[in-house]
Amino acid sequence: MSIEELSLDTLDGIGPVTKQKLENAGIYTVLDLAIRGPSEIAEAIGVDLKKAIEFNSSARLRLMELGLLEKEFIPASEIYKKRQNIERITTGSKNLDELLDGGIETQAVTEFYGEFGSGKTQLCHTLCVTVQLSRDKGGLEAGAIYIDTENTFRPERVFQIAEARGLEPLKTLDNIIVAKAYNSSHQELIVSEIGSVVDKMPIKLVVVDSAVAHYRAEFLGRGTLAERQQRLNRFMHLLLRTAEARNLAVVVTNQVQAAPDVFFGDPSKPTGGHVVAHTSTYRIYLKKAGKNRIARIIDSPYHPERETVFVLNEKGVDDPEETTSKKR
Ligand code: GTP
Ligand code: MG
Repeated sequence: MSIEELSLDTLDGIGPVTKQKLENAGIYTVLDLAIRGPSEIAEAIGVDLKKAIEFNSSARLRLMELGLLEKEFIPASEIYKKRQNIERITTGSKNLDELLDGGIETQAVTEFYGEFGSGKTQLCHTLCVTVQLSRDKGGLEAGAIYIDTENTFRPERVFQIAEARGLEPLKTLDNIIVAKAYNSSHQELIVSEIGSVVDKMPIKLVVVDSAVAHYRAEFLGRGTLAERQQRLNRFMHLLLRTAEARNLAVVVTNQVQAAPDVFFGDPSKPTGGHVVAHTSTYRIYLKKAGKNRIARIIDSPYHPERETVFVLNEKGVDDPEETTSKKR
């Protein structure tokens, strides 16, 4: 495949003006066009839905011809082959990796939810470092994109984690592209631009910390709940399609209030509600337990519900000392 074959103006009906409009909306290649919904395309370039569907379809067709997109009816063997390309990133904790069957997966969205201080942001920082480790150490020798919605990204913390894990700290920071999202629309725009970053440098992880904070703040009250869910839904699907199309791991966080008297009774009421829950491929609930943190995998296509213990220290996410070598 050559990059020319993915150029927007090779598609019928896309001239310089339309191309410019698409680029303004963060759609730079046929790949980007194919993973956007027709209504988004229509909105972006000011055409009717019918025309947008045409553009989207011809983009999808091109990708199918290039073998980059599955056909509507796919032999299971092809899905199997694609899944063979799934890669995993270590979380820094053997326990947590084991819970996740080897780490955070590419081609999937993994959601970590839990109360304040449960370690969601710390885990995100750690993953931005571990993704850069060599493959024999559980990394993918690639960089990360960090979408920061709560202004909690701390390069100093990344520096410390990188150093503790034997990586060159400044080089490690070079490989993390940070985007601050000021509101939900900005957050969506940033995600729509991921493709242009991935085209320029090897990226295997996209973090959105937190995925839902802006939506929660902006859509208050019952009347706006449906709209909030619809927007979140669109956002989560865009993330999932990006993860699949680019073979990268997406990690999102979601804050929930702990139910004080229920341990693991029914904590599964993340702020994003069911939309986030259903789009995420894996959902992990995090909870403080003294100095330790408990992670529980909530629902996934093939993991039974299980839990494990990890800690936060200078290496970021790590195993508790007494269980490091013990099989849980
Ligand atoms: P919210 O964003 O408020 O929902 O919380 P969160 O789940 O993102 O929590 P976060 O990851 O920020 O965890 C905060 C906790 O991490 C603190 O209470 C500390 O226990 C721990 N922590 C943060 N920084 C450090 C550090 O530099 N060293 C160590 N050892 N622990 C840290
Ligand atoms: Mg946080």
